[in-house]
Formats: sequence, structure tokens, C-alpha cells
Amino acid sequence: MTQHVTIDQISDHVGEEVTLKGWVYNKTDKGRLQFILLRDGTATIQAVVFKKNVSDEAWEAATDLTLESSLVVTGTVRADDRAPGGYELDVSDLEVVHIAELGYPIQPKEHGTGFLVENRHLWIRTPRQSAILRIRATVIRAIRNWLDDHGFLNMDTPILTPAAVEGTTTLFETDYFGEPAYLTQSGQLYNEANIMAFGKVYCFGPTFRAEKSKTRRHLTEFWMVEPEMAYADLDDYMDVAQKMTAYVVQTALEKHGGLLTDVLERDLGRLEAVEPPFPRISYDEAVDLLHENGFEDFEWGDDFGAPHETAISEQFDRPVFVYHYPTQCKAFYMETVEGRSDVCRSADLLAPEGYGEIIGGGQRATSVELLEQRIEEHSLPREAYEWYLDLRRYGSVPHSGFGLGVERTVAWICGIEHVRETIPFPRMLEKIYP
Ligand code: 4AD
Ligand code: MG
Repeated sequence: MTQHVTIDQISDHVGEEVTLKGWVYNKTDKGRLQFILLRDGTATIQAVVFKKNVSDEAWEAATDLTLESSLVVTGTVRADDRAPGGYELDVSDLEVVHIAELGYPIQPKEHGTGFLVENRHLWIRTPRQSAILRIRATVIRAIRNWLDDHGFLNMDTPILTPAAVEGTTTLFETDYFGEPAYLTQSGQLYNEANIMAFGKVYCFGPTFRAEKSKTRRHLTEFWMVEPEMAYADLDDYMDVAQKMTAYVVQTALEKHGGLLTDVLERDLGRLEAVEPPFPRISYDEAVDLLHENGFEDFEWGDDFGAPHETAISEQFDRPVFVYHYPTQCKAFYMETVEGRSDVCRSADLLAPEGYGEIIGGGQRATSVELLEQRIEEHSLPREAYEWYLDLRRYGSVPHSGFGLGVERTVAWICGIEHVRETIPFPRMLEKIYP
């Protein structure tokens, strides 16, 4: 029996006979030669079947192969500069596992987006989607590694919750034994409890928002990592967030420079520039910038939309923090800025090249009185937040944290237009199939 290897390790086996297990990505019939472009989930390689080198059964099998048929091939690895990827397999034996039906929906050609979205279960097999989802996995791993290595303890927060974190308009409601419950919008409030027990924590999981707008940045189910720190102010949050973000980008570059350039045609120079410190400007300064750059009508107090975020980020070569947003733009839990109750200790990180907000965060209110007042102003049901108020009754400390959205971060790193390609099965407005 020859050794089973994966295509990504093929360069270690030049001159050896190996077995590959995969699927037909493409096939060319040249009479006495069959060229099978084989993919196995790690990469693709051209397998060359020469009639005189294989048994009659194996030759018949090779001839019968249709797109996406599954097969096990054995052959000798040959380095070949002209071959895509630099290697080819000279096939000596071939075993069909399944002949795929004719009419595989996704052909190696251009398809419309609507069609691809409907066929997401098959679309993920293509090189571009595969590259993006691989980079996603690396991004997630880099985030976890960075936090684990910097004293943050992973704490999983609940998915089913009794109350809103980020406003009541985007809640997904479900029935919890006769009582309403909601899919979590953010684990933040629970992390604020966790840090009073553990100091520095993070949660990392799916979060849900019934976003009613169709944009290229919004999903209804997305993954967010949320670090939270006791005894930390707004600057401490920005320090941590910029280091973590830069590490994630540099790790993706190191590990997937090839995929980023060859498959995704990403301008790596833009990513190489992502090193701390990131510029920090106040909301007031950002409004001035907007006034100077084509948004004369933008009024102080309004929240930024996508075009505003793009205009601001275009002034910088790396992500930029905008801090001290108007209190009215932000969630109920924000600490106020001393001497200015109209602005709060919040900061968003805006990615370059029009990718918009990838991180939202801030310093949390420490006093029970301020929180009680905010809960009332936001018309939130006080009973559901009693436990949260307890955190300000028993050993309250200044604390801060943030949430980084995985899909927007991956879209930015990969340089792709829409977040729907950054998660295996995106959930969007009125879209839940497949
Ligand atoms: O700014 P947001 O709403 O902040 C929070 O949820 C805080 N509770 C986080 C915290 O401080 N612990 O969301 C944080 C990030 C955004 O910057 C964005 O990257 C992403 O989550 N995000 C979305 N990504 C995709 N689709 C959506 N609908 C998103 N909403 C937010
Ligand atoms: Mg936000």
C-alpha cells in the first residue's frame, strides 16, 4: 500500500509513489491521455493518466469520470515548472469512489451571485471560496492565540438570553418555555460579570441581529470575539485592540501570502502597513474631516453611515480609531466623558479601503446611578438587568472591552466586496437556504 498524502504536502514526496483522495475539479481528454485536475480540500494537482501506464479498468474509470466525481489515485510525484502549483502526478492506478451525476451546477466559469448563493453548499468547493474560508480559519486561530497568550481567559457566554445588549430593534425572539427569550447580540454583559471574577476574559461565538437592511457588511448571524478587562480605560482597550488586530493581519499575511496574491489578487502592501500604533481621532475631529471631504451637510450627533466611514478611513493608511461618539449614537452601557455628558467613552475601529467598522467597544459605566438612568432612558426592562446592576453594587471598577466582527475582518484582509463570502453558510435578510 502506498502512503496517503494530502496535496498541500506533495512537495515533500517528489519521486515517490503516493495515494491521493479527492474529487475531479476539471478534466481534459486528449485521446490516450486524461488530465484530471484533482482537488482534495488542501490544494489541487494535475493527475496525468497515460493509457499505457495503467490497467484497462483504471483507464476505463478515468474515461468515465465526470466533474466532482470522487476518486482515489496512486501515482508518482513529478516536479514540473509548467504545471500549475509546480507538481504533477503520473498516475499508475485509479479507483473511482463515486461517479457524480452529469450537470454539476457549478462549472469552472462565471456564474451570477444569486445562483452561487443558492448553491453555497457546492460553491464552497471552488478555489476562491476555499481560499477565503481557509483565511477565516487562520484569522480565528490567530485571535484565540493572541488572547490566550496575553492573559485573557476564554469564557463562553450564553446564546439564549433574557435581554438586549445592542438595542431592542434587532432582537431575534424565541419562545423559552412560555417566556420570551432572545438570541444573543453580544456576550459583553456576561463578560462584565466574568472579569470581576477573572480579570481579563474573552468570549468568541456566534451573535445574532435581525438587521433589516441589506448591505455588503451585514449578516444576521455573525461571529464576534469580545475581550473584556477589569481596571482598564478607553486607551487600554485601544492599545489591546490595535495589537491584536495587527497580529491577526500579519499572521494571515505570513501564512496565506500565496492565496492572497494568486487567488484573491490582494494588494499585500496595504496589509503590510497594518502595524501599531493606529491613528486615533475624536468624533469631533472626524466630523471636521467629513465637512472638508464632501460631506458638508453632516450634522454633529448623527451616527456614521458606510460612506462616512469610508471617507474618514481614506485619510489614513491603516485602521483608525474614532473615539468619544455622541452618547445618543451608542448603547446604554457606555461611560460618559468627564465634563461632557453629550459624548461617551466609546471607540470604533474603522478599517481602511472602505471596509468600515470592524471593532466597536468602549469603557463601561461604573456607577449604578448612571446605569439605572440609562436603562430608563433606553426604555429597557429594569428587571432583566438587576444582575448587571449588581456588578456596580459589589466591587465596581473601571473596565473596558470591545467586539471584533470576524466576517468584516476577513472581508477586509481578503479584499472582497461582500461579507457573505467570509462564512461557510451566511445568514442574511430573508435568506436562510441552504
Ligand atoms: O459595534 P457592535 O454592535 O458592538 C458590540 O456588540 C459590543 N457589545 C461589543 C463589545 O464591546 N463587547 O459590534 C461589534 C462588531 C462590529 O464592529 C462589526 O465588526 C461586527 O461586530 N458586527 C457585524 N458584523 C456582521 N454583521 C452584522 N450585522 C454586524 N453587527 C456588528
Ligand atoms: Mg458598532
